[in-house]
Amino acid sequence: VVDVKGGEDEGAAWVGRQLAVRGWVRTCRAQRTVTFVEVNDGSCVSSMQCVLSPDTEGYDQIDSITTGASVLVEGVIASSQGGKQKVELKVSKIIVIGESDLTSFPIQKKRASGEFLRLVRNALAYATHKFFQDNGFVWVSSPIITASDCEGAGEQFYVTTLLSNSAEGSCLVKNIPSTKDGLVDWSQDFFCKPAFLTVSGQLNGETYASALSDIYTFGPTFRAENSNTSRHLAEFWMIDPELAFADLNDDMACASSYLQYVVKYILENCKEDMDFFNTWIEKGIIDRLNDVVEKNFVHLSYSDAIKLLVESNKKFEFPVKWGLDLQSEHERYITEVAFGGRPVIIRDYPKEIKAFYMRQNDDGKTVAAMDLLVPRVGELIGGSQREERLDYLEARLDELNLNKDSYWWYLDLRRYGSVPHAGFGLGFERLVEFATGIDNIRDAIPFPQVPGSAEF
Ligand code: 4AD
Ligand code: MG
Repeated sequence: VVDVKGGEDEGAAWVGRQLAVRGWVRTCRAQRTVTFVEVNDGSCVSSMQCVLSPDTEGYDQIDSITTGASVLVEGVIASSQGGKQKVELKVSKIIVIGESDLTSFPIQKKRASGEFLRLVRNALAYATHKFFQDNGFVWVSSPIITASDCEGAGEQFYVTTLLSNSAEGSCLVKNIPSTKDGLVDWSQDFFCKPAFLTVSGQLNGETYASALSDIYTFGPTFRAENSNTSRHLAEFWMIDPELAFADLNDDMACASSYLQYVVKYILENCKEDMDFFNTWIEKGIIDRLNDVVEKNFVHLSYSDAIKLLVESNKKFEFPVKWGLDLQSEHERYITEVAFGGRPVIIRDYPKEIKAFYMRQNDDGKTVAAMDLLVPRVGELIGGSQREERLDYLEARLDELNLNKDSYWWYLDLRRYGSVPHAGFGLGFERLVEFATGIDNIRDAIPFPQVPGSAEF
């Protein structure tokens, strides 16, 4: 018995070969002399058509071969008379491994896009590693528990665990987020200080880049943003590359090549899945992704973006004014309407609306930041050149009332062998959302964690 994955693409070359498939029954159709069972093992969109006859060993279990049941089928590959598939499996033996009670089976008999999303997600992750590895980046792991708030936006989840489980303990846990009144006895805490789940691996990534040159992180990040939108998750994966000896132009070039590479990768390697999304989820997605690969991205300064939005005379819900952050409706207008669906990179944002670590531009008002916007999703990537000048960085921390002592290690990078460097962060689920055409980020991750629900 040859043990290979199911699927129709292998086609004619397999005719005559013995095959065993382990998978789950999608449908079972009994006809007068034969029974057709569609078995899918998750390796591709199509299922293997398995043909059972009364001679098949295990045929007496036919009543248990229902949608959702897990089975092992063995047989010989033959050309198929049916129009849908090139080959089918003439089954000599079937074993029902796990039954599925049809009266309570919870999954609707509809196209299961979930599996294909996982396959494309997997391919995007593989392509991400391949892109960076092929370009000499080192993959590093940044901590998930951290004492610093990378973005300074106060959106971290606290990690507080008491060393003892005393009754006073549970009371302390409640009080920990309101530390200012001095009620908390941090010596009782596991870390003896406030600790959080990371919002981005960037700051740690910078330390690696200050010794290894180009690096990237790819790991889970967490944000307690109370946003019930189609593009926010409380737990998401981020890719944070950091380029040493690089400026904002190098950063934008890297972000563009990366995005084009991974999109091209799935167009070439996930044809069947992409056809599925093109047909059932978002018509025309393949053409639009081909444009992403083939056409240059639009480049625009923040000031020009504001001008464009003001001159559009469109009524937006949120105000448009130099100095205010762009909202999702503005970002989508720019990429979807103003530039016909092309990705747009906006640079040089006002320093007040961006994080403390971004490099100040010579005008004293803006920083070398960039956001990459795509249709439907809006901001896919946020990045910047980092402030590598010690005096500027210290002054900025003071201006923002941030405690310089707790950034001693980050400031040391500017004290010893500082180099111009830049990086960006990409939200992996937003990439999956963009690349497949699904309209809610919650489908891009199997176990979505969102406000009001931590179910899994
Ligand atoms: O723009 P952000 O906040 O940038 C950073 O965290 C930087 N430290 C990155 C860097 O320069 N290395 O987040 C980066 C990206 C966003 O562009 C977005 O795609 C994604 O992370 N993101 C989210 N994705 C899903 N749910 C959320 N709540 C997200 N918040 C940010
Ligand atoms: Mg951002």
